[in-house]
Order: sequence, then structure tokens, then C-alpha cells
Amino acid sequence: AGTDYEAEDGVCQGTVDSNHTGYSGRGFCNTNNAVGAYVEWTVSAAAAGPSSLAIRYANGTTTDRPATISVNGAVVANAQPFPGTGAWTTWELQTINANLVAGSNKIRVASNTANGTANLDKLTVDAPRDTQAPTT
Ligand code: GCU
Ligand code: CA
Repeated sequence: AGTDYEAEDGVCQGTVDSNHTGYSGRGFCNTNNAVGAYVEWTVSAAAAGPSSLAIRYANGTTTDRPATISVNGAVVANAQPFPGTGAWTTWELQTINANLVAGSNKIRVASNTANGTANLDKLTVDAPRDTQAPTT
């Protein structure tokens, strides 16, 4: 479930690459290896409220690439871990919950270190479960 937003359709402060397989869409964002290098997505929410944000990434090193995640300029995670995934072709998820506003939201993942972020493939946004119809 959820809505996918490809990194190559957002703002990629680096290059959109496709040399490591397993990505979705046309590629992934290889951010510049610098503090603050980021990907920013513009996502649309039908209603205000908590959503889950799942970031698909690969980190072929053995060093964590922590990042600051912000929503509309407000930090929601100041050191989200993006640990090594074993290979640049192995993609995993980091998922956080954050409040979105109704309409357009800017979601940014920015590197905390000079290594840049992990390679970022896509963001999947899930509406809060409590907006779904009860099952009983
Ligand atoms: C390698 C790899 C890139 C990655 C980079 C990095 O160059 O091919 O995809 O982004 O390392 O360490 O950030
Ligand atoms: Ca990089």
C-alpha cells in the first residue's frame, strides 16, 4: 500500500544513477558525498495527520550514513540510521512516522556526515491507518 515517490522525480543533490541494480523507477539518487547533501520529495496528503514514511536505500559500505529527516522544514529525525546493507545492490527500508499537512509536503533526507546519504531509491507514504474503515 502507500504511494511511491521516486528519488529521481524529486530534488536530488547529486546524480541520478542506475549502475546498481534493484532500484525501482529509472534509477536512484547518489547524493554528493558531503554534509547536508539531500533528496527532497514533494508529496501530497489528502488529509492532515500521522503518516508512515518508508525510505528505500542501499549502503554498500560498512559505515552508517545517518541523515536528518525533515518535513516542511521541521526536523522529525535528527540522526536516522542508514546502516550498511551489504552491497550497493541490496535495498532496505528505514521507516519513520511523521505528521503531514493536508496538501503539499516537502520531505527531505539530508546527510549528517561528509559521506553523503546512502543511495536513495524512493519514498513510500502511507496514510494513517485510522482513516481506514473499521473491520469489525
Ligand atoms: C560508490 C557507489 C555510489 C555511492 C558512492 C558513495 O561510488 O558506486 O553509488 O553513492 O560509492 O560512497 O556514496
Ligand atoms: Ca554518494
